[in-house]
Amino acid sequence: MKARIYYFSGTGNSLALAEGIASGLGGELRGITWDEPESVEEGVVAGLVTPVYFLGVPDIVRRFARALRLGRGTHSFAVVNMGLRKGNALVQARSLLLGAGAESFSGYSVQMPDNSVVFPTREGEIPGMLEASRAEIDRIVADIARHGEGEGTAWSPLSSIGGAAMKAFCERALGFRDISASGDCTGCGLCARACPVGNIKMEGGRPLWADRCASCFACIHRCPSKAAGYRGMNRGTFKPYVHPAGTPTLQAPQVR
Ligand SMILES: Cc1cc2nc3c(=O)[nH]c(=O)nc-3n(C[C@H](O)[C@H](O)[C@H](O)COP(=O)(O)O)c2cc1C
Ligand code: SF4
Ligand code: SF4
Repeated sequence: MKARIYYFSGTGNSLALAEGIASGLGGELRGITWDEPESVEEGVVAGLVTPVYFLGVPDIVRRFARALRLGRGTHSFAVVNMGLRKGNALVQARSLLLGAGAESFSGYSVQMPDNSVVFPTREGEIPGMLEASRAEIDRIVADIARHGEGEGTAWSPLSSIGGAAMKAFCERALGFRDISASGDCTGCGLCARACPVGNIKMEGGRPLWADRCASCFACIHRCPSKAAGYRGMNRGTFKPYVHPAGTPTLQAPQVR
């Protein structure tokens, strides 16, 4: 099947799902960035694989999908993944892909380890969750191949209000996009290499965060010294998480 799968991933969960789906469908993988508008030719199935942020799709994915153009008669799909609750992420993905010109849509959600720092998945639950997600990939690939509908996608006003409130609190009060390095920084540069949007530059042996953060937390989870963190973060209690297959930029660059 001809398919193009666009993914965004910070800590590797979405990348692992996107790779599994691309290999199952025989499709091509492309990373989502802030800037590059994309179009998909007629007859090619178009997919989005994305984490859930604040009960919806991340800002970077929304912006990308709004600029996406799909050929006539395109079948589209989205696979959202989250620690616990998908909220309106699938509904949003559906309306974004239909708005981009898709004729039909299949939607799926997969539970994955939570990388959100505030509500991390218990360590003991991670191996079983990852195992279950691998089995989900086969089910999803088979359903996309027959242009199935996937899961239901009902809009929830509660998720809409709750997600917006959570986002405002995390970004304004906790400073989710206001990341910096503490005195424990060794200047190793791993955070800069981990950032899927190239938002971190090393200058004079210190990382500097610019203003295009997608709040994916890859830099925080990748820092070997627990030096990278946002303003309101408790670095002492934080347990880093990265998907065992790796993160995007250290494996297959998302920044093109
Ligand atoms: C800023 C942020 C917000 C998040 N919000 C949610 C959420 O609303 N619901 C949820 O279940 N998980 C949430 N998560 C967890 C991620 O969706 C989940 O860990 C996902 O698998 C990460 O994918 P990745 O490894 O490809 O980056 C959030 C994570 C981040 C970084
Ligand atoms: S600066 Fe950190 S949190 Fe922001 S996009 Fe880059 S890796 Fe993700
Ligand atoms: S990964 Fe951590 S220790 Fe390494 S440069 Fe970045 S903040 Fe400093």
